[in-house]
Amino acid sequence: MTIVARHVIKEFGSSHTRVLHDLDVTIADGEFVSISGRSGAGKSTLLYLLSTLDHPNHGEIIIDGETVRALSVRALHAFRCRHVGFIFQFHYLLPELTALENVLLAPRNVGLLEEKRPQAMALLEQFDIVGEKDKFPAQMSGGQQQRVAIARALIMNPRYIFADEPTGNLDTVNGMKVMQILQEVHRRDRTTIILVTHEPDYAAMASREIDLCDGRLVSDVRRGVS
Ligand SMILES: Nc1ncnc2c1ncn2[C@@H]1O[C@H](COP(=O)(O)OP(=O)(O)O)[C@@H](O)[C@H]1O
Ligand SMILES: [Mg+2]
Repeated sequence: MTIVARHVIKEFGSSHTRVLHDLDVTIADGEFVSISGRSGAGKSTLLYLLSTLDHPNHGEIIIDGETVRALSVRALHAFRCRHVGFIFQFHYLLPELTALENVLLAPRNVGLLEEKRPQAMALLEQFDIVGEKDKFPAQMSGGQQQRVAIARALIMNPRYIFADEPTGNLDTVNGMKVMQILQEVHRRDRTTIILVTHEPDYAAMASREIDLCDGRLVSDVRRGVS
């Protein structure tokens, strides 16, 4: 099972500014891949394409043999709900819900509220924020909020985690905590993790490092052990 980008070209605007140039990459299930590169290199654009949030102008994204472009909006939505967890630089927690309620939002929407409650508590415990479970986002630190967002991304046991600069808004200590959580999730559950970061130390914590420069893949290095 894989995510394949084949001859992917992405352009923006009426002038067709090319942001990704004929990019080919294959990501196998269970990999922990970092995508690095300068600001503007095309990292987020690539992440959105790989995660089905956006489509290329030319070329294909193929997930488990299925061309994403051929899927209906409804099928794409179902795929993302079932198999994908997203973590962004800003957590997008709902301010009027507590930490625990935020984590349980997706389960609640599909009628799994009570079934998932023990797992939500276990995640909060694991991330050292069980004491904040009844707090609202505004009552938590940035690091705590981001850990709630990670618990929310994990609660449906996704096969894929897409993370766009999840440490970008955090200090070193909290950034490292987030990275260690991602490493542990990868090791324990073999969740495929695709992480955008411009921090070399964090990129090096992945088992595979992809480097983008001006929309081109300039390096792709695998490590033996992650
Ligand atoms: N929706 C958009 N419309 C127009 N240009 C965009 C859009 N999204 C990204 N870009 C441009 O594409 C380039 C790559 O952006 P991005 O993928 O966000 O880079 P990175 O995440 O590596 O910083 C940048 O020049 C950015 O301005
Ligand atoms: Mg970006």
